[in-house]
Amino acid sequence: MTIGGPVTNALLYLNNVSVAFDGFRALNGLSLSIDHAEMRAIIGPNGAGKTTMMDVITGKTRPDAGEALFEATHDLTRLDEAAIAQLGVGRKFQTPTVFDMHTVEDNILLALKTDRRPFPVLFSRRTRQEKERIDALLERVRLTGSRDRLASELSHGQKQWLEIGMLLAQEPKLLLVDEPAAGMTDQETADTADLLREIAKTRSVVVVEHDMVFVRDLGVKVTCLHEGSVLAEGSLDAVSSNERVIEVYLGR
Ligand SMILES: Nc1ncnc2c1ncn2[C@@H]1O[C@H](COP(=O)(O)OP(=O)(O)OP(=O)(O)O)[C@@H](O)[C@H]1O
Ligand SMILES: [Mg+2]
Repeated sequence: MTIGGPVTNALLYLNNVSVAFDGFRALNGLSLSIDHAEMRAIIGPNGAGKTTMMDVITGKTRPDAGEALFEATHDLTRLDEAAIAQLGVGRKFQTPTVFDMHTVEDNILLALKTDRRPFPVLFSRRTRQEKERIDALLERVRLTGSRDRLASELSHGQKQWLEIGMLLAQEPKLLLVDEPAAGMTDQETADTADLLREIAKTRSVVVVEHDMVFVRDLGVKVTCLHEGSVLAEGSLDAVSSNERVIEVYLGR
């Protein structure tokens, strides 16, 4: 970092990031900034580097070159996955990882606690504060009516929301969501866009998605990646009328 203050005010700042796997450049000089309480949609063809970008942000993959800063001062390229999660970066993978044999409510409770081992948590007394937080989280992810059901009984879409609720329990400053609408019904997809818009009022969200109806519902700035770097950025209308974007992605 240069003397004289931070290089960025952004919550997340990626500058010229490159990652190669066996000589193949999955990310190739990728630069991207996400502001505080901004939601950004990331689109682009298969293999464009969208998931790899999330891997770099979360410390799963180390870039070969470039900068990755969180809150201007934390160098993500030098921190491990646990430390980055601790800073407030939450990630939702495509396959929900909920505890199937526990109730919806207990899944949220487990996520609230720092001690994630099921038994000590489930048999300890629930404080009133915890109960209020669980109620608020269930309400937020639209699962209040399903609180006593086993997670295994939920629909695919509901499981995704439960996992989002579990991530929110950790109070992330930045939430990364990879293809949330995949496998969802149209109604679930629309509800998920609503949910993410609510979440993005108080924290930043980066959402990768191929479903353009969903991306339009989000109503946020869009970045199109291609071959590991930014091809176009702006409103969905501007990006989707970009000739290169049509050529490499939308026009297929
Ligand atoms: N661990 C890895 N080892 C080798 N190659 C990898 C690895 N991870 C990703 N790649 C390659 O890097 C490129 C970018 O992959 P990535 O998964 O980031 O694309 P994506 O934009 O998420 O695509 P999709 O829309 O299909 O999810 C692909 O060609 C992929 O095969
Ligand atoms: Mg991907």
